[in-house]
Amino acid sequence: MPKVCVIGLGFVGMTMATVVASKEFSVVGVETNPERLDNIKNCKVPFFEPKVDEFLSNTINKTFHVSDNLSESVFKSDIIFVCVGTPSKSDGSVDLSYVKQVCKEVGTVLKETEDFKVVVIKSTVPPLTTNQTVKPILEKESQKKAEKDFGLCMNPEFLKEGSAIDDMLHPHLVVIGSEDEKTQDIMRQFYTGLYDSLPEYLETTPENAELIKYANNAFLATKISFINSIANVCNRIKGADVETIAKAIGKDPRIGPLFLKAGPGFGGSCFPKDLAGFLSFSSSLGYNSPLLESTQLVNKRQAEIVVDMILQKLDDSDRKTVSVLGLAFKKNTDDIRESVATKVVESLLQNNVDIKVHDPMAIPNFRKVFSDRITYSERIDDCLKDTDCCVILTDWDEYFELSANDFKSMRSQRVVDARRVLDPKKMNSIDFSAIGYGL
Ligand code: UGA
Repeated sequence: MPKVCVIGLGFVGMTMATVVASKEFSVVGVETNPERLDNIKNCKVPFFEPKVDEFLSNTINKTFHVSDNLSESVFKSDIIFVCVGTPSKSDGSVDLSYVKQVCKEVGTVLKETEDFKVVVIKSTVPPLTTNQTVKPILEKESQKKAEKDFGLCMNPEFLKEGSAIDDMLHPHLVVIGSEDEKTQDIMRQFYTGLYDSLPEYLETTPENAELIKYANNAFLATKISFINSIANVCNRIKGADVETIAKAIGKDPRIGPLFLKAGPGFGGSCFPKDLAGFLSFSSSLGYNSPLLESTQLVNKRQAEIVVDMILQKLDDSDRKTVSVLGLAFKKNTDDIRESVATKVVESLLQNNVDIKVHDPMAIPNFRKVFSDRITYSERIDDCLKDTDCCVILTDWDEYFELSANDFKSMRSQRVVDARRVLDPKKMNSIDFSAIGYGL
């Protein structure tokens, strides 16, 4: 069995490392952040993600070890997965500095070994990065030739927050982008050993592998902006409901039912960043995609539409306090990166609105951003009490349970359901609006 090294124990790296270690592979995880490393050593997952704690406690100090020593860890391993972050720069382009730094260090280790090691780029990187940035760095530092002396491939990751472990255990597709057959053979053997039966598997060029990741996320983001565009038309037509329309068009196998949930727009650490990164990359090639620019624009505008819906409801109020239900970018996570709630709250504060917020998990992260500018409530009823409008921004299960009666403690019972968690037909007794529901 090949020995595996995972560099960067963030969300993807931790999930990958613990799942691979759970299948009896020997895995070393490299992490340079001392606090994060200590937490992991003490069996504490440094972020919230279902099941990762269970996989960590089952493997740590058995098949899974962690270290801050990259050179030693790479030296002892056969397959090295690079899982470091590729954040956005202020102009939207992709910051490759972590990938470059890690590859420099990996290259110096390759110089010292006779073994044929395979370097796998798991981080999301723009097309051409593997061949035109990573390969020259590795070759320069190692003074060796890729394909002949060491292997190199791009292996994009498709897992989602909230179901990362299950996605890793049951991928819908494994993509390996590499120039050489030896690397493809090693990776096929690795994935055959990892899964009881090999999932759908695609061997292709590094450029295609890089593009597949961006195209995948860009398509899903576009599907969301598409349904949000339909929702915004529905809002203007009495009798129209985007939920019914999404369900109907989703029956067409050419469209499919998933990612057609209208809402306040997509957030999270991936879609906004990858869309900006891809747009920046494609414009550097001389192509400004009008479609993907619109996907981005519709998404930006969607948060503004939610704010407009709230402000319209508050038009005649002297006092303006809004309760916000849901802060995380989606349910079952405490992640608020690019969450619509951060944009809506900031904009309402600019409009002199007082804010009370509730979220089952994301309050500590939200507090780091808004500190004492807003009021935090542990309970939904506390959050609703004496407010003038409520907006629902995340689809947490408990919000589906709310009835018109639950809004009675509000000063004025006005609700904007931006996530479509409530049944509009049951909200006749209150001033109720929902994204994509024409009144
Ligand atoms: C996304 C992709 O789904 C993963 O396949 C990919 O691997 C990952 O990005 C990544 O590039 O790392 P994730 O960001 O965890 O995963 O979350 P999603 O479940 O895709 O949701 C993204 C956003 O879209 C959320 O704000 C969600 O509420 C929103 N969304 C999703 C909608 O508004 N409507 C939908 O129908 C679906």
